[in-house]
Amino acid sequence: MANTDSTDRILKLREALNRHNYNYYVMNSPEISDKEFDDLLHELEELEKLHPEMEDPLSPTRRVGSDLTEGFEQANHIHPMLSLANTYSIEEVDDWFSRVRSAIGGEKFNIVGEMKYDGTSISLIYENGKLVRAVTRGDGEKGDVVTENIKTIKSIPLHLQGSEWPETFEIRGEVLMPWKEFERLNSERAFNEEPLFANPRNAAAGTLKMLSSREVARRGLDAYFYYLLGPELPTDNHFDNMMAAKSWGFKVSDIMTCLDSIDEVDSFIRHWDSARRELPVATDGLVLKVNSLRQQLNLGFTAKSPRWAIAYKFPAERALTRLKSVSFEVGRMGIVTPVANLEPVLLSGTIVKRASLHNEDIINALGIHDHDMLYVEKGGEIIPKITGVDESKREPDAQMVKFISHCPACGTPLVRVDGEASWQCPNKFGCPPQIAGRVEHFVGRKMMNIDGIGEETSQQLFNNGLIKNIADLYDLTRPKLLTLDGFGPRSAERVLEGLEASRSVPYDRVIYALSIPFVGDTVAKKVAKAFPHIDLLMSATSEELSAVKDIGPRIAESIVEYFANPINKEIVNRLKAAGLQMSAPEESSEGRTDKLGGKSFVISGTFSRHSRDEYKELIERNGGKNVSSISKKTDYVFAGENMGPSKLEKATALGIPIIDEQQFLSMIGED
Ligand code: IVH
Repeated sequence: MANTDSTDRILKLREALNRHNYNYYVMNSPEISDKEFDDLLHELEELEKLHPEMEDPLSPTRRVGSDLTEGFEQANHIHPMLSLANTYSIEEVDDWFSRVRSAIGGEKFNIVGEMKYDGTSISLIYENGKLVRAVTRGDGEKGDVVTENIKTIKSIPLHLQGSEWPETFEIRGEVLMPWKEFERLNSERAFNEEPLFANPRNAAAGTLKMLSSREVARRGLDAYFYYLLGPELPTDNHFDNMMAAKSWGFKVSDIMTCLDSIDEVDSFIRHWDSARRELPVATDGLVLKVNSLRQQLNLGFTAKSPRWAIAYKFPAERALTRLKSVSFEVGRMGIVTPVANLEPVLLSGTIVKRASLHNEDIINALGIHDHDMLYVEKGGEIIPKITGVDESKREPDAQMVKFISHCPACGTPLVRVDGEASWQCPNKFGCPPQIAGRVEHFVGRKMMNIDGIGEETSQQLFNNGLIKNIADLYDLTRPKLLTLDGFGPRSAERVLEGLEASRSVPYDRVIYALSIPFVGDTVAKKVAKAFPHIDLLMSATSEELSAVKDIGPRIAESIVEYFANPINKEIVNRLKAAGLQMSAPEESSEGRTDKLGGKSFVISGTFSRHSRDEYKELIERNGGKNVSSISKKTDYVFAGENMGPSKLEKATALGIPIIDEQQFLSMIGED
């Protein structure tokens, strides 16, 4: 193709792809198939490779993200990003309406009603119709520059449509993870044994701050816009400004409505209180705004929020449904968990059929009787919770739900766990779900990471009598595997390769994989360090074990008890014979520093550059200490995404500095 032809074609393709992105992601009405879209994108990619002089950071090909994102720069907001005054009551909304009316002094006014989208806020700056910068809310004054990540959100225009936009302006909106994407992401995380996101808000906020924009692109974020700012806005009222923004290509919610009276405001609230359940994205309330910008200016701001707007928050969603039965499930440690099987009920966009009742004490405290009508709540979290009973709907002869006395799987009488509310099946080596559960744990990603064996295959291997314990895994052969349903030569090969690779999994992970009660990954690391060979660990006494820092008597007892059992001893000896790593590699002093000078760190949340375990390792390699809970003596709280609110509160109350990934990496000189 001649050069000018290529230039033309590149520009045409870019324009077409931008239009198709808009039709698909903003208008929800694609004009071409996904395949046709991919073909055009591919053609553009090829042409751009041949014509590097045509480079454009806003090209549709740049929306796939890259792995190269460095840490985030910070930028000051032109106007601080304030929050909104909140209320849960319609009466308080009415009071606000009256306050606005009297402050405006009898002049006519109208209100714009909108959804309060439950994601994470973003400020975008456009110059000459092009996106130049995207900044998170941060502390309200300054935030992180996340332009590369924002560019992967296909509903956000990189070039504006038409030509009627101001030369420079700011637009604010909410970045969201749609329910569907959220569910997909969490099931993927569950499969990988990664912590689940509690709600789409955390998932959106966590995703937006990821360092790999390619991963961001994979996660299907979306964004709705609700606030236009700048020296020259198209009109003198909020509603029309948003309509203008819509015509430039922004996703502005169709739900936005002009409301002329207090009655219209109230019915808007009542309508959306339930209708929001049908929406594809999470919402936590409604926002009501005075429409006229002049009136907004007169009403002004308090220190924290505008007087011209108020957020009405929806109460936590609650549903009432019938208890069909209580089933009892046995985990790998033999703990029996009661689960309520419910008449299916729609709650916050998903159908709830089951909810854990946790233990006997909770059943008793709630006073649950057979076939009771139960209140189920979600309140922004994904895991449904039984919060109460409607006793007025109880059947006349209903009996209190009784905890079982025998294991539902193997019939062994249950024993109460010392000092706890749980019941346990003591038949460790004969109870099928315990055995299968230990195999599932053993092969898991954070343990032996045996590719080719997941939950289903573990079950199948056990049900077909091919394995009775974790050591039997290493006796699996190709012919044995080929007897499994759905197993062909390729899947058998994968399992055998996975088993082979697991022979080099480090010693501490082998200890973790054994399913010794109370020995999680952190304890396993400590134990491996203090007893660097399995023979030492197997013969350690309770006193020797308790002498290790952070190993309490309960863990020590549990380890001693585990190795005292001849069956466990035999399993471990067979694993040893199978060639698993049964000792810690010689400690090398290479890479050790004292950069952290003995300072103590509490690490919380999830991270993007390294895993949490890798950070713990880095803290120790650089002369710092890991501690598990925050106290006055903690030097730093190292916070990732989704750090628990109680930790945050405690750290703030004690004035302990909270550092993020970037700051930590600079401390050890790795940024
Ligand atoms: S207006 C000056 N409108 O709610 C206030 N905010 O608590 C400008 N939010 O940080 C905000 N939906 O992230 C506005 N339709 C909407 C909203 C909305 C969600 C979020 C936003 C803000 C927070 C305020």
